[in-house]
Amino acid sequence: MKAANLLNFLLAVALVLLCAMLWREPAPTVAPTAPGAAVSEAPAPVADVSAAPATPDEWREIAPKDAVMDPAAVGVRDTMLLAAGREGDFNAMTIGWWGTGVLWKKPVVTVYVSKSRYTWEFMEKNDTFTVCAFPDEYRAGVMYLGTHSGRDGDKIGPSGLTPAFTASGAPYFAEADLVLECRRIYETELSDLAQLPEEARRLYDNGMLPHAMYVGEITSVRTRVPAP
Ligand SMILES: Cc1cc2nc3c(=O)[nH]c(=O)nc-3n(C[C@H](O)[C@H](O)[C@H](O)COP(=O)(O)O)c2cc1C
Repeated sequence: MKAANLLNFLLAVALVLLCAMLWREPAPTVAPTAPGAAVSEAPAPVADVSAAPATPDEWREIAPKDAVMDPAAVGVRDTMLLAAGREGDFNAMTIGWWGTGVLWKKPVVTVYVSKSRYTWEFMEKNDTFTVCAFPDEYRAGVMYLGTHSGRDGDKIGPSGLTPAFTASGAPYFAEADLVLECRRIYETELSDLAQLPEEARRLYDNGMLPHAMYVGEITSVRTRVPAP
């Protein structure tokens, strides 16, 4: 091959290589999860909610004080799930008795757990808990956890709900669309049955133990219920 032809050939090869390099896909900017990294971390909150309108897949972080002023707006519902414990040693149950509000200048959620519940043991052993709400399609799973006891065996698996853990280690469920994370600040027992309304007193006729009342300071609120 003549020198000029060889030069042209080499220039063509260099041009092809240059084009191939320029057209390459950009490298991903998110580092892959390292083997052994905690898979239980809570999904990261949306960094800039003003740039990305909320959808059911996107979390919005709400100031706890704002959430208790307008609980319906963040997705608080009449039936929710209470979960307490740590990864590998936690339990959850359905609750219909709860309240959000302000106490001692703190945004709080108050829950009522009969001492008969297995979950009560986890509320006693841990000073954090979560209260979660779910989209309607998970109602069967939520009700399963309210009609079976973790004392009798694994009920989380059959519920179809997926446990996850907040950065501070409290259990919640991946399918939830609202997660209130709480730190227990007060506890008492509603054991003076004489004070209860007549119909409430009858609840305990069959041997159910009194309800413990837990006041939790809400430390974080994450919702993916679309903003009103
Ligand atoms: C809709 C619904 C609401 C409930 N609300 C409460 C409640 O507020 N407090 C309570 O102690 N139990 C409540 N329960 C009952 C517990 O969820 C139920 O006894 C559960 O099986 C306890 O599970 P555990 O033994 O694994 O803790 C509710 C059940 C249902 C279905």
